[in-house]
Amino acid sequence: MSADTMRAVVQDSFGGPEVLRVESVPRPEPLPTEVLVRVHAAGINPVDWKTREGTGMAGVLGAPPFVLGWDVSGVVEAVGFGVTTLRVGDEVYGMPWFPRAAGGYGEYVTAPARQFARKPAAASHEQAAAVPLAALTAWQALVDTADVRPGQRVLVHAAAGGVGHFAVQFAKHLGAHVIATASSARHEWLRELGADEAVDYRAVRFEDVVGDVDVVIDLVGDAHDKTSLRSLEVLRPGGLLVAIPAGVSPELAEAAAERGVRVTPFLVEPDGPALHKIAELIDAGQVVVEVAAVFPLEQVAQAHIQGEGGRTRGKLVLRVAE
Ligand SMILES: NC(=O)c1ccc[n+]([C@@H]2O[C@H](COP(=O)([O-])OP(=O)(O)OC[C@H]3O[C@@H](n4cnc5c(N)ncnc54)[C@H](OP(=O)(O)O)[C@@H]3O)[C@@H](O)[C@H]2O)c1
Repeated sequence: MSADTMRAVVQDSFGGPEVLRVESVPRPEPLPTEVLVRVHAAGINPVDWKTREGTGMAGVLGAPPFVLGWDVSGVVEAVGFGVTTLRVGDEVYGMPWFPRAAGGYGEYVTAPARQFARKPAAASHEQAAAVPLAALTAWQALVDTADVRPGQRVLVHAAAGGVGHFAVQFAKHLGAHVIATASSARHEWLRELGADEAVDYRAVRFEDVVGDVDVVIDLVGDAHDKTSLRSLEVLRPGGLLVAIPAGVSPELAEAAAERGVRVTPFLVEPDGPALHKIAELIDAGQVVVEVAAVFPLEQVAQAHIQGEGGRTRGKLVLRVAE
């Protein structure tokens, strides 16, 4: 590998996990205001496999070839002109460029310095890489979008997953009464994370046992058993459903208007300052990061297969460098 090249997961066509291959590609160079980060670990998210097969952010990235991946944790290797907030050698994490391509499944990324934050000191690179996209989604949905207040009732669907396990912890931190949906094997763990109630969505209709909710963090969507539509029934008048997987269909918008509740589409954005606050919570021991498995870069296809199974507790991560 020359100094001008690096290893990265490349795909030349849309398709199944088999299109992912580790290849040698040109190493990026930082422009003014950007940093070059040597990536130690990269987080895996559902948007990765959706984009791989031609949905997700494929419309933004355009036709392959491209390098997937947005979540990275690593070390600043070089800084572009004008960068004053980070230095060579700093350990950083981030979700740069989203929804444009960031090339996180590679040994180096370049991005604006302020889209990164210092990595939580208490977290390994593998744990830190599991944080940005999922935690920023939970944070931006609960804090910036729903403005959750102490005492409010928050329902988190898919609470055991990547976004959900952060949403449970952040909602608790904000002083909410937290209700989590998950299969029963995850209930004890979710209570340890801060859930006040756990509902087994496989055993009961959640709308039969949950009510008076101020905010629904919907990480499942209508594709699974009309979860969004059914969630409108549990909201208080004026309550808010944040529709995270697939936005708001005309049918959902109409049903919400009829019931006097609100729905909003949502897309996560790069946010260095929020990552700084999240790192503080992790370092203070108030938020834990659950990594279900770490895969070497060469096993990226297996990692996608496991993720697409839809039963991950917490996050999956790629080890990119030692
Ligand atoms: N719009 C955005 O900006 C944005 C950002 C991030 C994520 N997303 C989307 O949000 C969704 C969730 O993302 P994620 O990273 O959290 O996914 P994930 O980690 O893959 O979610 C896996 C979890 O989903 C749970 N689950 C599956 N079906 C469920 C159901 N019907 N009810 C309750 N829980 C269920 C499983 O729990 P059990 O094993 O207990 O069943 C599992 O723990 C994805 O569609 C993703 O693309 C959107």
